[in-house]
Amino acid sequence: MIKVPFVNLGLQYKNYKKPILNKFDLLSSNGEYVLGKELNKFEKEFANYCGTKYAIGLGNGSDAISFSLISLGIGPGDEIIIPANSFVATAWTVANTGAKIIYADVNDDFNINPDSIIKLITKKTKAIIPVHLTGKICKINEIEKIAKKHNLHVIEDAAQAVGAMYKSKKAGSFGITGCFSLHPLKNLHVHGDGGVLTTNNKKIYQKILKLRNHGLRNRDECEFWGYNSRLDNIQAAIARIKLKDIEKINNKFKNIAKIYNYEFSKILEIPLDDKNRKSVYHRYVIKSNKRDQLKKYLYSKGIETKINYPIPLHLQKASKNINYKKNSLLNTEKLSKRILSLPIYSELTDQQIHYVVKTVKSFFD
Ligand SMILES: Cc1ncc(COP(=O)(O)O)c(C=O)c1O
Repeated sequence: MIKVPFVNLGLQYKNYKKPILNKFDLLSSNGEYVLGKELNKFEKEFANYCGTKYAIGLGNGSDAISFSLISLGIGPGDEIIIPANSFVATAWTVANTGAKIIYADVNDDFNINPDSIIKLITKKTKAIIPVHLTGKICKINEIEKIAKKHNLHVIEDAAQAVGAMYKSKKAGSFGITGCFSLHPLKNLHVHGDGGVLTTNNKKIYQKILKLRNHGLRNRDECEFWGYNSRLDNIQAAIARIKLKDIEKINNKFKNIAKIYNYEFSKILEIPLDDKNRKSVYHRYVIKSNKRDQLKKYLYSKGIETKINYPIPLHLQKASKNINYKKNSLLNTEKLSKRILSLPIYSELTDQQIHYVVKTVKSFFD
């Protein structure tokens, strides 16, 4: 039996060990830990990669969403529309501002449904947070039109979508801000928590530079109460090393997805691809009515899978005060019972990929 873990971070480290240890040694010898040159360089390179004017390295991706909301003045009395199918961070960052979370339903490609958004807009709506889930950009052109018509901000939750494209533009370059996670499970990741925010808006850029650093204007003067959320200089150095390879890394994800799509197209509902929206397949998510049996079967054969996400946000206990009931966001709920994420990462070997293919097929045989 071949073992196929859901992730294998140790293997990626092996490939990058030398440059990472060299940088670690250099920065540790210089004592450059916080807000150093590596961070500045990473921010320039990441902005350049995404096609935005600015990027700001943060302690995690959640703070990128939080700081976007705070810098736009969002708070109690405001309503923010988000998809019900996402990681919990898309929701709690809104709740933390005091604004009300408004959950929208999703399409079959797991991303927020623009028609669902339109029905939810009220006088209190201030922003939409579309999530580019699984590494595929949502219907951003339609969302931009809705936002323009109703004078709403678009904050892109691009945590899972570094390098994802809509036509010739990259995730993070559409909204007022783009919010990325550098968590170890993401295509571009550091060795711990990390995040980065992109924007073309100078005012927001300047505000978030202070927000992440206690609200300090300079060493001694505090303009407003802020936070401590800076991407460490050593983490920025690791991010720079990996950013150089991100196209290569993303291509590996895409190639595995291509093999899976080809092999599974007749037996499973495979992720929908789209001419204009090129996914980076942060997750490879299939749909099946026999999801739970398939998951168990694969596990018994040494293949680890996950469900992203088994409990929709509106049905989480944390949402109880928002008063959503079962059967209120039908597609999200239906998907949560049928979706399964198969192993996909740049270190998967050909042998492992073909073992996954063979084993999934043997289940359906
Ligand atoms: C869709 C989504 N939004 C937000 C986040 C939050 O990112 P982080 O864990 O870096 O705070 C994540 C990652 O975990 C995510 O997948």
